Amino acid sequence: MTDLTRMEAELSARVAAAADLAALEAIRVEALGKTGSISELLKTLGKLTPEERREQGPKINGLRDAVQAAIAARKDALETAALDAKLAAERVDLSLPPPPERRGRVHPTMQVLDEMIAVFADMGFSLAEGPDIEDDFHNFTALNFPPKHPAREMHDTFWLPEDERGERKVLRTHTSPVQIRTMQRLNEKLPSWIANGQEPPIRVIVPGRTYRSDSDATHTPMFHQLEGLVIDRDIHMGHLKWTLDQFIARYFETPMVESRFRPHHFPFTEPSAEMDVKCDRSGGDVKIGQGNDWMEIVGCGMVHPNVLRNCGLDPDQWQGFAFGFGVDRLGMLKYGMPDLRDMFAGDTRWLDHYGFSAFQAPNPATGLS
Ligand code: PHE
Repeated sequence: MTDLTRMEAELSARVAAAADLAALEAIRVEALGKTGSISELLKTLGKLTPEERREQGPKINGLRDAVQAAIAARKDALETAALDAKLAAERVDLSLPPPPERRGRVHPTMQVLDEMIAVFADMGFSLAEGPDIEDDFHNFTALNFPPKHPAREMHDTFWLPEDERGERKVLRTHTSPVQIRTMQRLNEKLPSWIANGQEPPIRVIVPGRTYRSDSDATHTPMFHQLEGLVIDRDIHMGHLKWTLDQFIARYFETPMVESRFRPHHFPFTEPSAEMDVKCDRSGGDVKIGQGNDWMEIVGCGMVHPNVLRNCGLDPDQWQGFAFGFGVDRLGMLKYGMPDLRDMFAGDTRWLDHYGFSAFQAPNPATGLS
């Protein structure tokens, strides 16, 4: 065996045995580096006679090529092995449970609003909305409030400072101004999509925030109402009672609940009533649909002829009814929150307890989630 053949065999064996990239690099420097064994051999070629060089040249170059190829092959193998090891070590186990994370909760008021909207949507009502900052006309005057009505006074109403026209806007004290806005839109010759798709007959519900200067266990300065308005020909209180009874049964997920109209007064309805439903107060909390007590649930009545006239509708042609629910209160009755003020205190412990999952499946019995 010539020296060159022995050198190639020895280097190839060491290359094949190199345990990692660092060991391989050391062998490369030793053989092919500036002063490496093969590099030194290549340098000797210059000192040989042409005949010797013709003989030795291809052999030494062949040795260099063979060792270079062996190193490249080993490097490839080592890198592939390193990648395989890394992939094996870093494999994700998809069967592991996810790490715990804080989930947001749906606020009960928003849950209750969704439930209420779902029930009324099934009865053919569509949604209407109006501004939280209202003018005196929509919040009071057009709704037939007499000029000196106590509800306009400071103790109930949040008045905004006078604007440049000397007008004082209010934070709307109820959602009823959207009755006016909805009926007025009928007279504006607007495309139907701007008018909320409303042409007579009107059948809208109006969910929204309302404001009154009041605070105790059952009153907060901001609360939510859901207004209803139906305008058509030949509408009477029977329609109103049927609509509310249907709603109560579906919302509280009970069979039909006994209800009664108690005479009341609102400037914008005539006659006006509060509807009470049968409930049971004996167990500490209120159970709707059982027992022999009455619980006030909603204010309502037939839309006052003056209100229709204020909106350009002829009361001899059109009649209607309206109602206004306290949404937060309805939530307290269904889900048992004891104090209205907690609803808006922003305590996440309260929300964890009373809040709802955003991913709740719809209840097959009611279609509600
Ligand atoms: N707007 C009334 C209130 O806030 C409720 C209501 C609405 C009454 C519609 C009758 C008709 O008390």
